[in-house]
Amino acid sequence: MSLYSEKVMDHFRNPRNVGVIENPDGVGEVGNAKCGDIMKMYIKVKDGVIEDVKFETFGCGSAIASSSMATEMIKGKPIAEALQLTNKAVTEALDGLPAYKLHCSVLAEQAVQAAIRDYYEKNHIPYDEAMFPACSHCAHEHEDGGEE
Ligand code: FES
Repeated sequence: MSLYSEKVMDHFRNPRNVGVIENPDGVGEVGNAKCGDIMKMYIKVKDGVIEDVKFETFGCGSAIASSSMATEMIKGKPIAEALQLTNKAVTEALDGLPAYKLHCSVLAEQAVQAAIRDYYEKNHIPYDEAMFPACSHCAHEHEDGGEE
């Protein structure tokens, strides 16, 4: 029996919505300090709805599958709904991930939140900090003095 579900393998082999959006309305970049993987999410917003979303991931297969699934889950959805996306929902939609790979799906949740937060900030839309419990800016901390 494979460690990974067919859905994970499918999204890993044929990730949806990979790429960059030119002039995005919001961009979020997050990283996992332990494994060093990075995920970048771009969103285009119209009338409060996520019209388009693309991602780039420099990460493991589970991170690729998670971000691919996450983009499918928020595309065409109102921002408020996209903000509710949890790594649990992403994992369930993928028919599960091995326990030690769950943190990879957290990256997808955080990338979506970071992109939305960026959208709010760029458009001077007031938001409640409590809507963003995870530290979406951790990716920008380079404590060991590495380059940017
Ligand atoms: Fe780093 Fe999966 S091992 S995101």
